[in-house]
Amino acid sequence: MRILSAVAWPYANGPRHIGHVAGFGVPSDVFSRYMRMAGHEVLMVSGTDEHGTPILVAADAAGVSAKELADRNNRVIVEDLAALGLSYDLFTRTTTRNHYAVVQEMFRTVRDNGYMVERTTESAISPSTGRTLPDRYIEGTCPICGYPEARGDQCDNCGNQLDPTDLIDPRSKINGETPEFVQTTQYFLDLPALAGALGAWLDERAAAGTWRPNVIKFSQHILQEIRPRAMTRDIDWGIPVPGWEDQPTKRLYVWFDAVVGYLSASIEWARRTGDGEAWRRWWNDGEALSYYFMGKDNIVFHSQIWPAELLGYNGQGERGGRPGTYGTLNLPTEVVSSEFLTMEGRQFSSSRGVVIYVRDVLQRYQPDALRYFISAAGPENQDADFTWAEFVRRTNGELVAGWGNLVNRTASMIAKTFGQIPAPGPLEDLDTALLAAVRDGFGAVGGLIGQHRQRAALAEAMRLVGEANTYVTRTEPFKLKAPEQRERLATVLHTLAQAVTDLNVMLSPFLPHSANAVDRVLGGPGRVAPLPRIEEVADLDGGDPYPIITGSYHHGAGGYPGWGPRPVAPGTPVGRPTPVFTKLDEDVVESELARLRGDA
Ligand code: MF3
Ligand code: ZN
Repeated sequence: MRILSAVAWPYANGPRHIGHVAGFGVPSDVFSRYMRMAGHEVLMVSGTDEHGTPILVAADAAGVSAKELADRNNRVIVEDLAALGLSYDLFTRTTTRNHYAVVQEMFRTVRDNGYMVERTTESAISPSTGRTLPDRYIEGTCPICGYPEARGDQCDNCGNQLDPTDLIDPRSKINGETPEFVQTTQYFLDLPALAGALGAWLDERAAAGTWRPNVIKFSQHILQEIRPRAMTRDIDWGIPVPGWEDQPTKRLYVWFDAVVGYLSASIEWARRTGDGEAWRRWWNDGEALSYYFMGKDNIVFHSQIWPAELLGYNGQGERGGRPGTYGTLNLPTEVVSSEFLTMEGRQFSSSRGVVIYVRDVLQRYQPDALRYFISAAGPENQDADFTWAEFVRRTNGELVAGWGNLVNRTASMIAKTFGQIPAPGPLEDLDTALLAAVRDGFGAVGGLIGQHRQRAALAEAMRLVGEANTYVTRTEPFKLKAPEQRERLATVLHTLAQAVTDLNVMLSPFLPHSANAVDRVLGGPGRVAPLPRIEEVADLDGGDPYPIITGSYHHGAGGYPGWGPRPVAPGTPVGRPTPVFTKLDEDVVESELARLRGDA
């Protein structure tokens, strides 16, 4: 199968924290790695989301231009996501010329098909400065649920999209003043003309029964409140509006442009491979599947706005129309949304200092320790809390004492006794039972990852690690010292080497860096999980150069191992191991909490 892994585009208004990578990052990578190993053709794309007000506000605060700020943060984010091992085929950005051209082609075709209509509306300006006041910087009471701190673009309490003029008692978040509303013309996406087609698509997705219940319910619910949405803004940072080139203060709305990134990045990826049409195999072939990964605050844009843009482009709404040069484009197969991660019981907040950035974690801890925590205890189906105490407990109690210990004792016993993986004698029931349990694990663990149940998948793999540790306790290889026990010792150690090798393959979507290290410990070349690399590239159409994340992730014949057991080769030399995982000091908790309080 062909699978598009469409990963939410992180805003480039600052570095990303672990709540972000728990939502879109690690889950999309685990899924994509598994799918590649299972033999599918995966295209995994994303990039930094660089337009819109948050970037402008951050740039103002830093005293630099929006582009400079985006350049800086793009680089930080690229480095962090690559260091975490996220295996993007292409991680790019929304300020490339390719992206601009693709977004404008989408806009023009949606408009030509009749789904983008001009309308005069009210826009907020700040009476004291005369500048346009962006929607999300206006606060007031939600007209739908009464929540007093709704924003001008969205109510975080009931999830409905809003316009600033909907708010009761609107006020500026910047200085508290009451905004003034003036008349302005914008392009609106005519969602009601696409509602029938959207509803049919959602019904079909609901019938497939694969989406998380919260996500499909929420998506069907917001369809009832559907109305036209402004897709242009009075702002001077963004993609120019086709046809309005003479109005430089009007730009496309950041969300219109960001979601098109999935398509533009696929096209950029294809152009960089030398086959500029290769992206079509994921977008025009109705058999191809697409999975969109994000946090729950993004659902509306992926289950309503983006599908509506696609339907409008395809000419599939009630006004008909014809697809543009990209042909008929696939709608999402599944919107895979996670819930929120909190930190020590509180919402992440950069401004209030309740935050731990990906970079800081990676400077002090192993990337796979963070990946493990997110996979084992992340906000998959319900909100989850990150605490340092739990991070230390999971790392020391499960990674180090469970998996790390199994690897370590297996390798050191082999190193001490045979110096190489021994050939087995006749297998006893205990041996075949362990090997069979591990072999069966591939079906169970893979099936769960395929259903986006990564917590259960990892728990099952770790249960098998536990079985292998129990096997050591039962067979007591360290006591098999007599010459007549030599054959039994060889069998037990061979069985263990095989179990560890297979478990390592099974854990590799979760723990790619350590998968390679474990392979080296067992005398292998350390090629189990491919890792991404950063490349500095030229813009394909003459814009500024930029860094991308990319990689070669070929599994199967001639490449990295596929999803299944890998027979070990007797005779492979195994030396004394160095531990793969670092045990954390108990005082990590105290020092991290002190840092969080600001007194470190
Ligand atoms: N930048 C948005 C956020 O961080 C996500 C955009 S996802 C996209 O919430 F696909 F629309 F780009
Ligand atoms: Zn509300």
